[in-house]
Amino acid sequence: MKVLEQVSLKAFNSFGVEVKAALFAEAQNDADVREALQIAQERDVPLLVIGGGSNLLLTGDVQALVLRMASRGIRIVEDCVQVVVEAEAGEPWHPFVQHTLAQGLVGLENLSLIPGTVGAAPMQNIGAYGVEIKDVFHSLTALDRQSGELREFTLADCHFAYRDSVFKQQPGRWLILRVRFALQREQALHLEYGPVRQRLAEQGIEAPTATDVSRAICAIRSEKLPDPAVLGNAGSFFKNPLVSAQLAARVRAEHADLVAYPQADGQVKLAAGWLIERAGWKGFREGDAGVHTLQALVLVNYGAATGAQLLGLAKRIQADVFARFGVNLEIEPNVL
Ligand code: EPU
Repeated sequence: MKVLEQVSLKAFNSFGVEVKAALFAEAQNDADVREALQIAQERDVPLLVIGGGSNLLLTGDVQALVLRMASRGIRIVEDCVQVVVEAEAGEPWHPFVQHTLAQGLVGLENLSLIPGTVGAAPMQNIGAYGVEIKDVFHSLTALDRQSGELREFTLADCHFAYRDSVFKQQPGRWLILRVRFALQREQALHLEYGPVRQRLAEQGIEAPTATDVSRAICAIRSEKLPDPAVLGNAGSFFKNPLVSAQLAARVRAEHADLVAYPQADGQVKLAAGWLIERAGWKGFREGDAGVHTLQALVLVNYGAATGAQLLGLAKRIQADVFARFGVNLEIEPNVL
């Protein structure tokens, strides 16, 4: 495996922030991953593993060996009542989803067009339009960086929650090598999400297939979310906050149009996009750091914004939303 020095990471983070990695390498397989761990140890630098770099805010040069997971391969490992499909960590997410749909497999369609890689997807339990990874997850293989041993994770082992997992909770411990998904051959679609149903109805599709749902979701996402290839961003920059029923009621008393989703445990999830928009930040721009004009949850880099400028903007938004509504917004991407 080739290890390069002083490599620009601009092409490897979807914000398009210009920083350098002291060392950089790409892993095609498990052996490369082990070699990278060894090299990092020998050179006495940390190992930073990245996938698509689409959930990452880099605020300065990275004094580490940055290892981009580039392992490829998709295979069916079980084909009975359910079809279990295994993909290597470096597989780009959306083409993988399309590949499964082309095989007539149902389950991943609601997660269409999410940037990133297969290996990064379980980290934050990616989710969209009523489906999260946990709903279609079978198992995964990860390398324990402490012991050097491989470990299999079942669904229960992963402790998936809203944009959270054991892998996020134990940063730097687990290196995800390959992930398996439990898919179906018959249509069992998730159409709870209003805008998806509406889009299908507009197109006159009464009995949608998984591919129809995927197309509808691609269209919805393309309208609201900026394409990182065109405008640097990391998707939602904040999580939708979970607050107490009392706090939600207090905010609602002043803002009848508050967007809120009651949860089974009595808490209420608020739409962070609504809070940020209502606080007046939607479309805000200072230098090249801004808030997307069509979706207030997404911070964007118009070209030459630094990670520090983007983080500074995020902190101003957090402080303002707290001052106005008493709600804490948690940053979603990893900030380094
Ligand atoms: N809203 C506003 N203003 C905005 C944005 C949203 O008022 O600027 C309101 C909308 O009108 C809507 C509500 O907030 O009533 C929710 O908006 P939307 O359906 O667009 O979803 P979201 O809460 O903004 C979440 C995920 C997205 C995912 C969508 C669809 C998080 C942090 N974000 O966004 O995930 O695609 O739901 O399921 O949970 C991501 O994580 O990067 C991501 C894009």
